[in-house]
Amino acid sequence: MGRLSGRFIAVTGAAQGIGRAIAEDFRAEGADLFLIDLDGGLLATAVAELQASPGGQIYSAQADIADPARVAAVFADLVAQSGQSPDGLVNNAGVNVFHKPLETSDSEWRRAFAINLEGAWSCARAVLPGMIARNHGVILNIASTHAFTIIPETFPYPVVKHALLGLTKSLALEYAGQGIRVNALAPGYVATQKVLDWWAGHADPAAARAETMALHPQGRIATPAEIARAAVFMISDECPFMTATCLTVDGGLSVRQHA
Ligand SMILES: NC(=O)c1ccc[n+]([C@@H]2O[C@H](COP(=O)([O-])OP(=O)(O)OC[C@H]3O[C@@H](n4cnc5c(N)ncnc54)[C@H](O)[C@@H]3O)[C@@H](O)[C@H]2O)c1
Repeated sequence: MGRLSGRFIAVTGAAQGIGRAIAEDFRAEGADLFLIDLDGGLLATAVAELQASPGGQIYSAQADIADPARVAAVFADLVAQSGQSPDGLVNNAGVNVFHKPLETSDSEWRRAFAINLEGAWSCARAVLPGMIARNHGVILNIASTHAFTIIPETFPYPVVKHALLGLTKSLALEYAGQGIRVNALAPGYVATQKVLDWWAGHADPAAARAETMALHPQGRIATPAEIARAAVFMISDECPFMTATCLTVDGGLSVRQHA
């Protein structure tokens, strides 16, 4: 028996990076999955690769989580197709929107909120009725150390991630009496495409990479699989009294005062 046997869990942004690692680990732990991603091609490849290993059902949908009507439609289709609504949701899909505050256009501000915050709410709104009906459910929002610390010139990403903690706490208290837990997980730097792209955007990518590694007490950043391990615990029923909280998985980065 896996740690997530009998569970049916939706994961957004599941085609690559942290979401993909979470999908792999959840499948290995026995969960049925509903995988959502904006990139339909990448998602189809991920689903095919996941299905190559033994496991439960995988449903998937290409969707932009910033589109509330599309989110509602894919969850309604899922119920029609599978006969059930997920009892777990990992709001993982997110984008880096990094600017100086006064150089942030209205469209960039709105894009940051539409994907990283409103997308999480749209997905939560889609699964909460089913969770209330079965008196059981777990929502896990992938936040960031940007949810409680600030790196200059990454605006408005930390504003949105702070707000995601607000959404987490608010939903946790609203639904605590109905068997539903809502938590956040805050990774520091994780070796995903997003971080590779961020390094590549620097004048000297190798120096940017070395600087990031040096910030970390362990001299390295996390692997997506290390974040997925923590997500298994948080979405499982192994921590029934954990709700409205945030688990930091950053190798000690956010505690360190000086490199
Ligand atoms: N990588 C890091 O260092 C790091 C650190 C802290 C937090 N995070 C958070 O972890 C989450 C995943 O990050 P990652 O590094 O794995 O990213 P990634 O860019 O590697 O993967 C993100 C996935 O989300 C999908 N996606 C993007 N916009 C979408 C949308 N509008 N609708 C549906 N899917 C969409 C992408 O297609 C992609 O497959 C994000 O919320 C991010 O903020 C990442």
